[in-house]
Amino acid sequence: MSPLRAGLGLMILVLCGACAERPPPDPEPVPQAFQSLAAPAELSLEAAPGHYKTLCAPCHGDAGAGDGPASVGLDPKPADFTELDFMWGRSERFLYWRVSEGKSLTPMPAFKYTLSDEERWALVRWMRAEFSRRAG
Ligand code: HEC
Repeated sequence: MSPLRAGLGLMILVLCGACAERPPPDPEPVPQAFQSLAAPAELSLEAAPGHYKTLCAPCHGDAGAGDGPASVGLDPKPADFTELDFMWGRSERFLYWRVSEGKSLTPMPAFKYTLSDEERWALVRWMRAEFSRRAG
């Protein structure tokens, strides 16, 4: 093998080592319209647990395991936020998009008319901290 090829191979190995440290990419690309949006610099999480309890827990469960009373018979089942790496595998912006627009072809509703922008960012931030479980 030429020194150039060996060098390139090594570089790829090094780069992939770095990839493993980062959270995996979102399951789907976030639409253009959401890519430039960001959470306000100051965000109060105070109301988030209450919003979760009334709006999300009926389907996603009090502990986030996707097993709330309203999940019975839903297809697909509500997401289990406590699944290993679920929160680590989704950016805050991805979650904000889903909560805002819902998930098409599933019973996951849109909350852009129920919660303000700020309330949705706060909810997502709180959920990530509350339900994150990471492998290793
Ligand atoms: C009527 C039941 C229902 C309610 C209420 C509900 N969800 Fe969902 N949610 C679902 C279903 C069903 C899915 C789709 C799961 C799948 O695609 O496998 C889902 C998926 C999700 C996902 C994962 C999306 C993805 O693509 O990875 C997130 C995040 C989410 N919901 C957040 C919320 C939040 C936050 C609330 C409250 C503001 C909420 N949901 C309320 C049923 C619900």
